[in-house]
Amino acid sequence: MEKPVYKRVVLKISGEALAGDKGFGIDSDILNSIAEQISEVHKLGVQVAIVVGGGNIWRGRNSKHMDRATADYMGMLATVINALALQDALENKGLDTRVQTAIEMKEIAEPYIRRKAIRHLEKGRAVIFAAGTGNPFFSTDTTAALRAAEIEAEVILLAKKVDGVYDSDPALNSSAQKFESIDYIDVINKGLGVMDSTATSLCMDNSIPIIVFGISTPGNIKRVILGENIGTVVRGS
Ligand code: GTP
Repeated sequence: MEKPVYKRVVLKISGEALAGDKGFGIDSDILNSIAEQISEVHKLGVQVAIVVGGGNIWRGRNSKHMDRATADYMGMLATVINALALQDALENKGLDTRVQTAIEMKEIAEPYIRRKAIRHLEKGRAVIFAAGTGNPFFSTDTTAALRAAEIEAEVILLAKKVDGVYDSDPALNSSAQKFESIDYIDVINKGLGVMDSTATSLCMDNSIPIIVFGISTPGNIKRVILGENIGTVVRGS
């Protein structure tokens, strides 16, 4: 019997990961593959809370002339689209799911209520947190850190297009070196860009380890959950 290393996790899926090579929108094959991977770990009895980004639809920080808060609210709405798509894909795999939004839109999904989210997890439902933290100027990585602290998750699984944290951008530098593990403070000091500094310091202050790994290889979420050393672990020394 495969034994998971974690009981409760926050899985952060970047919006970009959902777009695949197209770079925009939702690739249904990728969505299906991610749902399959989540379903695999759910079957192991792991409580899975999911935070989705929105960068496949809208990237607030790239909007040059727009008011930053407005651009960020648009990004939060983008995460709701992704959350509903993921909910649909997970339910097609037979999982019970609940979407909770940080900005009330009751006709679409229930609002974020911490104790209800924990109860859903205890009842075996995958919970998808949408609309970021509900505040502009905060990223969905920060949402993952905040929700992980709130629901007392043991770890954040940061599913990315790249397969870990490198000392320079592997897309631009073919000799970039991957870290097996790295301290939060080094991520911040070296400006490694794996997570923004707000999210990283929130994890540091609450001692929540982050595992950064590539989502495009099927089965990777399960590998991480079973304790395999793939990707990069970000933690304190
Ligand atoms: P428990 O019965 O407490 O275990 O949880 P439950 O989620 O099954 O109960 P509830 O009656 O709260 O929810 C039933 C369904 O309605 C679920 O699919 C919820 O996601 C959905 N739901 C609950 N509250 C809201 C809401 O405010 N807005 C929307 N759109 N759906 C909601």
